[in-house]
Amino acid sequence: MTMENIYKYIKEHATRPDEALEWIEKQTHIRTNHARMLSGSVQGQIMKMLVQTSGATDILELGTFTGYSAVCLASGLPSGGHLDTLELNDELEELILEGFERAGLADVIDLHIGDCKETLKRFREEGREYDMVYMDANKREYCEYYELVFDMVRPGGLILADNVLWDGKVCQDPLPQDRQTLGIARFNDMVTEDRRVESVILPLRDGLNLIRKK
Ligand SMILES: C[S@@+](CC[C@H](N)C(=O)[O-])C[C@H]1O[C@@H](n2cnc3c(N)ncnc32)[C@H](O)[C@@H]1O
Repeated sequence: MTMENIYKYIKEHATRPDEALEWIEKQTHIRTNHARMLSGSVQGQIMKMLVQTSGATDILELGTFTGYSAVCLASGLPSGGHLDTLELNDELEELILEGFERAGLADVIDLHIGDCKETLKRFREEGREYDMVYMDANKREYCEYYELVFDMVRPGGLILADNVLWDGKVCQDPLPQDRQTLGIARFNDMVTEDRRVESVILPLRDGLNLIRKK
């Protein structure tokens, strides 16, 4: 039994994505060359349940891409909840917003186009606060994102960081010296040494670091 077969079985036995998510996934394949960046139905369902079970009401996402994970996270929010999602690529805007409409979440999710580091600096000045942050933008910049978002996370809040195993490269000895691997390895070390949080890496897809602010 390979990991691929096991993942296929898990996918077949998880709650099916709804019509809006299926539409986003299909459009991502048709209109972009990067469908592998989608978090997918299994991770999406887990993140939705984390929102529901943690009782989060305010969520921040770094790296919207076509909006798949934003819709998963936002569909776990209670009425009155809110999600800010940050994306650099303005060419994706139309597709993202149509997906939010189709999911009935256009009033729940705010899309902010631009470099998320600049948007985060503005959010900090505005005094925004979140119960959950999902980091999924530029892997080289995870340490910077962590520093920028940390004070905006409420005590007991969660930071989820995606792709932290980076195809297993972070465990290789010697460590590959490309900037993505070095950026993620530095981030994982930084989190482990941070006494302000508890954390564990889930071996889900490419690795999800689950970080809880004390
Ligand atoms: C892995 S994809 C996100 C996938 C999405 N979260 C999902 O699961 O469907 C990463 C996205 O981050 C965006 N990105 C990269 N650097 C960024 C930055 N500095 N600010 C905002 N977005 C950025 C990319 O354009 C890309 O769309």
